[in-house]
Amino acid sequence: MKKILVINGPNINMLGLREPEIYGKKTYADLLAFISKAANDAGVETECFQSNSEGSIVDAIQQAYGKFDGIIINPAAYTHTSIAIPDALKAVGIPAVEVHLSDISRREAYRRVSFTSEACKTTIAGNGFDGYREAIQFFA
Ligand code: DQA
Repeated sequence: MKKILVINGPNINMLGLREPEIYGKKTYADLLAFISKAANDAGVETECFQSNSEGSIVDAIQQAYGKFDGIIINPAAYTHTSIAIPDALKAVGIPAVEVHLSDISRREAYRRVSFTSEACKTTIAGNGFDGYREAIQFFA
């Protein structure tokens, strides 16, 4: 069975409370349950990790080497600022899919740049929780 690491970046743990008009009313716990069901339906194994720290996300990517067949990553605000995260993805060479709940191409100008995307096979943005299911199906 394929093993997929799902990484969520800063403030994704605040879902439900955080700007519900953009991110919806469902919580991070709801997202974990959604991912678990989608993984079960697709016949893959997922492990979820969330951190508000860039270095912890880099550590998680490095530690995934040799353990996971794929990475699904929503780097949140680090999408637009971090070079270390795509560098880590390239270093381990694990196929990765970038996911965003909102459509970053239709928001503020500074969100239109993703440094992460060049280290990912594809980017799914604007589909809410369903984006994670689509990313799981990409690996299944
Ligand atoms: C986000 C979009 C980012 O611009 C933002 O900083 C986030 C969430 C999304 O899932 O839509 O924190 O990655």
